[in-house]
Amino acid sequence: MIKAFIFDLDGVITDTAELHYQAWKRCAEKLNITIDSKFNERLKGVGRMESLELILEHGGKQNHFTEKEKRIVAEEKNEYYRSLLIENQSLEMLPNMHTLLLDIKHSGYKLALASASRNAPLILQALGITQLFDSLADPSIVKGKPAPDLFLQAAALLKVETQECIAIEDAQSGIEAINRAGMFAVGVGEVTYLKQADYVVPTTKELSLNEILVRWWEKEY
Ligand code: G6P
Ligand code: MG
Repeated sequence: MIKAFIFDLDGVITDTAELHYQAWKRCAEKLNITIDSKFNERLKGVGRMESLELILEHGGKQNHFTEKEKRIVAEEKNEYYRSLLIENQSLEMLPNMHTLLLDIKHSGYKLALASASRNAPLILQALGITQLFDSLADPSIVKGKPAPDLFLQAAALLKVETQECIAIEDAQSGIEAINRAGMFAVGVGEVTYLKQADYVVPTTKELSLNEILVRWWEKEY
């Protein structure tokens, strides 16, 4: 029986995935590395330092910087990201997400967040939805996606079993993490990237609590 829903944040609840991409693109350009939206699929869901490593590897510059220099670049990326958040004053939820979160809550399911972003609490607050979540997994103390740890931590905080959870992600790394956690995986985005998910919808507009539960039931029985 399903008892809880665990959500990714960037690219699922809000459109901040695009802002992370813009900020990394700007940092990469300064390092003379070009990244495009196809490459960005590999960055989605991946932590800040790990993302930088992937970018450096992509540009053939993995051994060009000291740890200290890398930290400075990562901090700069976070500053770009935060200034984009501020510029983008009207930070909004993706279509239909508020309704979906409320439906889940009002139907008596528990709700948790499993985001790799250290900015997640700030974003939930800016959206005014912090109180909807029973728990937030903490990316500073567990391994990042594609390891299952953030989802396992979220389930443990909610005191539910992993097979009682449905998790929603827009990232390849996130779907892998959900699968490794033994949960039902819902993907939002292009099926080409998310084929390991149990159920994929192109955008958040197509997400509905009922349909997700039907898909889970069909897989289970
Ligand atoms: C999410 C995003 C990634 C981002 C990561 C860390 O998983 O999908 O693009 O790199 O969080 O975010 P942070 O805000 O801590 O830099
Ligand atoms: Mg995401």
